[in-house]
Formats: sequence, structure tokens, C-alpha cells
Amino acid sequence: MELYLDTADVAEIRELAAWGVLGGVTTNPSLMAKAGRSPREVIAEITALVPGPISAEVISTETAGMIEEGRELAAIAENVVVKVPLIPAGLAACRALSDQGIKVNVTLCFSVNQAILAAAAGAWCVSPFLGRLDDINQDGMQLLREIIEVYRTQGYQTRVLAASIRNPLHVTQAAQAGADIVTMPAAVMRQLVKHPLTEAGLQKFLADYRQMAEATA
Ligand code: E4P
Repeated sequence: MELYLDTADVAEIRELAAWGVLGGVTTNPSLMAKAGRSPREVIAEITALVPGPISAEVISTETAGMIEEGRELAAIAENVVVKVPLIPAGLAACRALSDQGIKVNVTLCFSVNQAILAAAAGAWCVSPFLGRLDDINQDGMQLLREIIEVYRTQGYQTRVLAASIRNPLHVTQAAQAGADIVTMPAAVMRQLVKHPLTEAGLQKFLADYRQMAEATA
């Protein structure tokens, strides 16, 4: 399972890219608004920082507009993946862009049938939003498992990207479910590395070594 960051904050991406575990980045219009900078500039900077797939979302809700925006976004860098919403116009844009060799991430997926449509439209990946389902008392992880099962049964090539991740347990469970990719906020990625026994163990190793070094100096 590849690990992506879900952010448009370039400083955060730079910090976590240094860990050597980052497979790619996803952004969305809300994250761009939070960054408060030109989306094109932000995408260009991220694509230069991270060699893996970088999702950049269209704003248009019409097929023609999505295709035009998608082409412009894809022209920023080779590793741009165009993100389109899971609506009829988005599926049509996905088909057109995919046929032109542009990778498409079909986003805002909340059902197995929507995921089937994304695969049929030639999507490079589909993004089920786990956390937003959990937020309304529906089981996001169950949806992820069902999509993966249907994709395997049907032999769809579209990758499953677990999105709207809220906590480290979501990451573990997405991996157990067999997600191809999981995208998470920087705060969740920072939580993945932490364990109290790791910190305590390291402190003890260093203290023991210092004691020995002082005794033998
Ligand atoms: C994924 O690509 C989306 O940008 C993201 O995961 C949405 O997460 P949210 O529900 O926390 O906004």
C-alpha cells in the first residue's frame, strides 16, 4: 500500500518527503483554499518535490470544462493526476482524459456502484471517503472492503485510494483491507511513527551508552 499525504501545504510535504516513505500527494479545492496560494504554483512545487502521483482537482462541473482544466493541470508536470468528482460529467471527463493518456482520480466516492462506474470510465484510481461516512454513522471501512472485493472479482485495474482518513487505525485497517493507496493528513502520518516504547527504548539505549562512555573515559 502506498502512503500519500492529503495536503496542499508545501512545507508539510517537504518535511514528510524527507522520511523517504511518501508515494504521492492528494489535494482538493478546500486544501488549496487553506493554502491560500495560486493552485497552479502549489501543484508545480509539489510535483517538483515528490516524484510520485500528485492529484490536482478540477473546479468545473461541466464535462467540457473539466476536460479543458484537466489538460491544463496535466501539462504542469508528468506526475499530475487529474481529480474529477463522481458525477455524470466527471465520469465523461474521466473517460475522455483517460483515453488521451491522462491519469484520473475519481473522487467523492461513497458507494460500490459509484466505484464500479469510476472503473468503467477508465479511472486510474477511485477515492472512497472513509471518514466522511464515519462522520454520518456509516461504516467507511466496510465500503472500502466491498469496493476492493468487487474490483478483485471483476478484475478492474483501477486502484483503490482510501481517502478522508482521520486516524492511524484507519491506515492499519485500509492496509488490512488491501487498499492500493491511502492518503492522510500530515498529523496522521506523524502519528504512525510514534510509539511510547520506541521513545523510551531509545532514551534508555542512549543513557546506558553515555554511562559506559563516562565510566571508560
Ligand atoms: C482525498 O483525496 C480528499 O482530499 C480527502 O481525503 C478528503 O478528506 P476530508 O474528508 O478529511 O476532507
